[in-house]
Amino acid sequence: MMGKLDQAKAAIANRVEAPEVAMVLGSGLGRYADTLEDARTIPYSQIPHMPLAGVSGHAGNLVVGRRGGKRVAAMQGRTHLYEGHGANDVTFGVRLLAWLGAKTLIVTNAAGGIDSRLRVGDLMAISDQMNLTGTSSLLGPNDEQLGPRFLDMTVAFDPRLIELATSVAADQGFELRRGVYAGLLGPAYETPAEIRMLRTLGADAVGMSTVLEVLAARHMGMRVLGISCISNLAAGVGEGPLSHADVEKTAARVRPRFESLLSGVLGAI
Ligand code: HPA
Repeated sequence: MMGKLDQAKAAIANRVEAPEVAMVLGSGLGRYADTLEDARTIPYSQIPHMPLAGVSGHAGNLVVGRRGGKRVAAMQGRTHLYEGHGANDVTFGVRLLAWLGAKTLIVTNAAGGIDSRLRVGDLMAISDQMNLTGTSSLLGPNDEQLGPRFLDMTVAFDPRLIELATSVAADQGFELRRGVYAGLLGPAYETPAEIRMLRTLGADAVGMSTVLEVLAARHMGMRVLGISCISNLAAGVGEGPLSHADVEKTAARVRPRFESLLSGVLGAI
């Protein structure tokens, strides 16, 4: 892993200032990267070992620039396990940004709302996660220079960053929800029975990403803020079938609010 990270870093280091904050922009949110100042765009195809994003709404660029006085590196689109990539591949970008020097990760996604208090269009700070993908981004030989073999996940999401994001949202006139994110393999949406199971387990929202990235980020010592856009009510919670088009539509509708929250957080970090 370290050899791959070194190769990727060497390939882009002359084009990238060491970032302070790394971001992963999920479904429909990638355009936030276009708002970075002095931005440089590096397609994933130019980064050795970086898997290519293949899902609609995921552009597949690393965009580096500034925002809120911070040096930011944003992943415009991510790869998912369900595309057939391994757990180490889908987290390579996050590890690379940590390797480049980022100490903070802001990870975003679209998620289905399980908790009955969640509404479509809500933004939710992830208070904790459940890795239900059946795999881990920490498999294989461990390199102690990257992080510990047995990672403590007691406080996976930084409570101070959650408080900060909550107060930024309040200043902007909306309530940032808070809840537990369950990350599943996908790519099918869940059945209503699976959603009842997840609710019983204590999940408030469900998606197909994020949890492995958070494991990799914590492994490398980054502090993490996770924000979900509740793009739909989970299967059986709301009415009707679920579709990626609807997920993208909601994400696009919420984008202005999401972007101002991200900018406010970057300015306040
Ligand atoms: N389930 C899983 N992943 C999702 C959902 C959902 O309802 N919405 C957006 N991503």
